[in-house]
Amino acid sequence: MTRDEGTYKAQGERAAKAGTRREGTYKAQADRAAGNAAPAEKATRRRTKMVAPPNNYLVPERDALLTPVLECRHLGIDFGGLKAVEDLNLMVGKTEIAGLIGPNGAGKTTVFNLLTKVYQPTRGTILLDGQDTAGMDTARVSREGIARTFQNIRLFDSLTVEDNVKIGLHNQVECGMWSGIFRAPRYWLSEQEFHKRALELLDVFNMADNADDIAGSLPYGAQRRLEIVRALATNPKLLLLDEPAAGMNPVETEELMDNIVKIRDQFQIAVLLIEHDMDLVMGI
Ligand SMILES: Nc1ncnc2c1ncn2[C@@H]1O[C@H](COP(=O)(O)OP(=O)(O)OP(=O)(O)O)[C@@H](O)[C@H]1O
Ligand SMILES: [Mg+2]
Repeated sequence: MTRDEGTYKAQGERAAKAGTRREGTYKAQADRAAGNAAPAEKATRRRTKMVAPPNNYLVPERDALLTPVLECRHLGIDFGGLKAVEDLNLMVGKTEIAGLIGPNGAGKTTVFNLLTKVYQPTRGTILLDGQDTAGMDTARVSREGIARTFQNIRLFDSLTVEDNVKIGLHNQVECGMWSGIFRAPRYWLSEQEFHKRALELLDVFNMADNADDIAGSLPYGAQRRLEIVRALATNPKLLLLDEPAAGMNPVETEELMDNIVKIRDQFQIAVLLIEHDMDLVMGI
């Protein structure tokens, strides 16, 4: 992805200055007009005031004095002769929801692969919460706080919904091999904790009732949501969502966007999402 191929952050300077960001979407407005009151717990989308700290990147005002959760400087990767990502500069504030947009093949997914260390960059630096991630591998950046979903859903299809979430939880629990093999009290304790936590997380998307369902049997939209819950289970500081609304119908998409705002508010994390639908990105 080159600088010319797209705006990297949907809340880019021009849009923010022009005040073109919308607080809600057309459906929400239509619902209100039709008297369909939104549920009380529905996330309210607020206009975020963006400010430019000394380094000239725009971040939400509330994050301006905090170390950005992500900073990419002159990031690039070549695949043979192909410069898939070239000179990407990006900053994401601690509780910011940012969008990565660009045409097909621009290098958006490759950026996620760089951030999660599926690939090591050919050039440039990635700072996570101020820490240089050079030399880190995928497992390490996961522990340090980056979680992702995939453009094509990757769940453990034959496992239950709850077990898929527990897999995400595993990177935070210290349960040694022996306590696992002998099912020591500590093992049971963490199993109980896992169960409770998995249900809490599923509840974010009202999916606790699906805990025992086989993941592969869920409808497509629910599988996409489950993937987000599993990513959340790793306790990230930064959640990367690769086209989370792909294949969803407009109602599901609208709910998803509300839920992304809710997740940010509840977990106080940052979200970087890839999305083709500009309206949708600008809506949050
Ligand atoms: N492992 C790889 N080896 C060689 N080329 C690759 C590799 N991964 C990605 N590319 C190339 O890098 C470019 C960017 O691909 P990428 O998947 O990041 O695009 P994208 O912006 O996510 O596109 P889309 O919107 O279609 O998902 C493409 O030309 C792709 O073929
Ligand atoms: Mg892609």
